[in-house]
Amino acid sequence: MKIAITGAAGQISYALIPLLLERFKFPIELSLIDLPDKISLLRGLEMELEDFCFSNLKNVSSGSDENTLFEGVDVAIFLGAKPRAHGMERSDLITVNGATFHRQGKILADVANPKVKALVVGNPANTNALMLIRGGDYKLKNQVQALMRLDQNRAETALKLAGRPHQDVFVFGNHSPTIFVHNASMEINDFVRKRGADVIKARGMSSQASAAKAVVDHLDDWMSSEDRQYSAAIYSKNNPYGVDEDLVFSFPFSNKKGILELPLSREEQGMLKQTEDEMQKERQIACTIPFLN
Ligand code: LMR
Repeated sequence: MKIAITGAAGQISYALIPLLLERFKFPIELSLIDLPDKISLLRGLEMELEDFCFSNLKNVSSGSDENTLFEGVDVAIFLGAKPRAHGMERSDLITVNGATFHRQGKILADVANPKVKALVVGNPANTNALMLIRGGDYKLKNQVQALMRLDQNRAETALKLAGRPHQDVFVFGNHSPTIFVHNASMEINDFVRKRGADVIKARGMSSQASAAKAVVDHLDDWMSSEDRQYSAAIYSKNNPYGVDEDLVFSFPFSNKKGILELPLSREEQGMLKQTEDEMQKERQIACTIPFLN
């Protein structure tokens, strides 16, 4: 299986690759993509991968040439996105990253395995995933998902800490402070909504190892031959919740059956609307990129 990773010289990638090679035992070829000024870091990573001696790692290619490195890939993991710098508005981030994902979506649709699965992690993940779909002229609309598994894992942790562990935990909406956990108290929602910021405050940088573990959990479920149910942000066309049909929105999802329909309380319907509004605003900002008009 050929797996491409963008932002491959970064810290999530550094935590992710060993987890990926441990979890998936089939033969893997890696295509590691990052910006030209990260080439030395990619070379160092390649050396470490050689020294790991993973028997299932069959080949590693790396560089900045997306046309070559996305060619024939079966899975593409999009970690690379410009982080918010001091003085930057969230809207600046949306347009800068939106343009990158739009370009990459076109390349992916042109050169990847037509059945490629693309998982978007770089923020704002949901809107970046929508731009990836649009860049590929909607050809990959059912093959792009954005990572919500970190939020689902955080919700499971919050429930466990509250002494109420349970299965089938699902999150709805945007990977942002408007996200909500199905059938959960406000305390659980607050925990999940603030957790990313709390980690940044404590570490001075965002979650990396837990994000990497969530990527592997997500791919494991998505690629499984069994029916697996998890939270995934997917293209919202024909969703049963009445959400705008041109977003990448987190729903309870089965890798075999698609979106799962769960009853929502009146309060949850209000939260659904709030997170939908936020994503519609993000889409509007992304669409100010000149070539998207
Ligand atoms: C997280 O949820 O930990 C990150 O998406 C937070 C961030 O803004 O990097």
